[in-house]
Amino acid sequence: MGKRVYIYTVGCQMNELDSQLVADLLRQIGYEVVESARKADVILFNTCSVRQHAEDKIYSALGALKRLKDRRRQTIGVLGCMAQKEGQEIFRRAPHVDLVVGPGRLQHLPELLEQVAAGAGPVLAISPWSEPADRHSLLAGFEPFDPPRGAQSVPPSRQAYVRIMSGCNKACSYCVVPRVRGPEQCRPAEEIVQEVRQLVDGGCLEVTLLGQTVNSYWDRSGGRTIRLADLLVQLHDITGLERIRFVTNHPRHMTDDLLQAVRDLPKVCPYFHVPAQSGSNTVLRRMGRGYTVESYREMLARIRQTVPESAISSDFIVGFCGETEEDFQETVRLVQEARFKNAYIFKYSPRPGTKAAQCYPDDVPQEVKRRRNNLLLQIQNQISLEENQKFIGRHVQVLVEGPSKLGQKSPEHQSALQLTGRTRCDRIVVFPGHRRLIGQFCTIRITHATPTTLLGEWEEPSSSPSAAPQKEIPLPVISIPTP
Ligand code: SAH
Ligand code: SF4
Ligand code: F3S
Repeated sequence: MGKRVYIYTVGCQMNELDSQLVADLLRQIGYEVVESARKADVILFNTCSVRQHAEDKIYSALGALKRLKDRRRQTIGVLGCMAQKEGQEIFRRAPHVDLVVGPGRLQHLPELLEQVAAGAGPVLAISPWSEPADRHSLLAGFEPFDPPRGAQSVPPSRQAYVRIMSGCNKACSYCVVPRVRGPEQCRPAEEIVQEVRQLVDGGCLEVTLLGQTVNSYWDRSGGRTIRLADLLVQLHDITGLERIRFVTNHPRHMTDDLLQAVRDLPKVCPYFHVPAQSGSNTVLRRMGRGYTVESYREMLARIRQTVPESAISSDFIVGFCGETEEDFQETVRLVQEARFKNAYIFKYSPRPGTKAAQCYPDDVPQEVKRRRNNLLLQIQNQISLEENQKFIGRHVQVLVEGPSKLGQKSPEHQSALQLTGRTRCDRIVVFPGHRRLIGQFCTIRITHATPTTLLGEWEEPSSSPSAAPQKEIPLPVISIPTP
């Protein structure tokens, strides 16, 4: 019997994608992917280092596994950003770990697992890191991990992430990502188009293009410069692909040609995740973000002018080094004015090795960070609720992802599951429906709204001639097989 692997993933979409690619890779060499650590022979943690809390969570999960391992002799591996950042330290703090593999070494996982099975452990495979860094040797150390994909990589929701670049060339003073993911490397456009074609041939309807600063994408491998706007045009031509998203944007690269591409290409979703981080110029400067709050506001206005139906979301860090009450109030003003669809708000967490950790004291007390976090969240939640309430009574088109996390049966529809899907503008919609709708486009009439979710009723195609999408986009025929 083949081996069974369990993969536990934390962190951003890049990590979710890596875990899917690792699962595909291991399936190809005979592993079965299981949903419980207890049933597995190999347990892999794909980890994140962006805040201390993410690392603490993994160390405590590793600690909890020690007793299980004593009984079951499983192989335990730590992959991803924390593997790269912590390296040997993981073996010191959790000696029962067999394998530590950084994001730039994931393609070697099959051989590394063999080495462990042959008794060579503990095995460490991370990219070399030296400071000050020589860009070329650094680049060589972070090997791309983009194995071929096909029908096996398309889940029932018929959505897929596609990496268009890895690493990051920015130097935000608080951020560990460039250190753990390496310098920016853009994949050749031709390779990306080919990958999306293969996914679409396998039944995929929606792709989300991933990059830490996705809108700085460029490629010259084919002789001419291809930027994100050009790549969107090329992907838009793929027959059978219905929706294209891209995350995460950096405010400095929100060019007019990109906005025009989103406006003009119906398959491209009018959704921009473009983190501001702070509303104070003093803080933005100390963060090394490379823009002012005035230019961020100007960018918001340009997005809304060019793509009026767009939804915009953001990230903020509160309690960054030296953030005064006045600085924080400027962030509050930005959030009040910008009317983001939603915003992710984080308390600053110093990351060893970053410029902020080395140069600026972490001088905002935990209590103040917590208060600012709660206040900003409260303000944003009210805005998200008001923006979502505008959808009540409207019809939206969603691609159904699967059972809603609530997973409860609806009281009114005893036979119906609660399903979840997303609108083109990235709003989560929950509605009662049947499993057979997963991976289909459905029209939902919105009846209720919360700050995070729209709730509604599925309108069966024949019963509602008015159930048209809000913008003219090519739709696949919703064909629902009779049970
Ligand atoms: N590449 C993306 C996001 C990377 S990390 C970008 O540039 O926007 C995701 C989010 O985590 C960031 O947007 C930031 O808000 C937050 N973050 C990063 N480092 C952090 C730190 N040290 N403490 C708290 N939040 C942090
Ligand atoms: Fe981190 Fe800044 Fe790069 Fe985003 S742009 S990954 S916040 S360094
Ligand atoms: Fe975390 Fe690495 Fe993503 S540090 S946010 S998993 S790139």
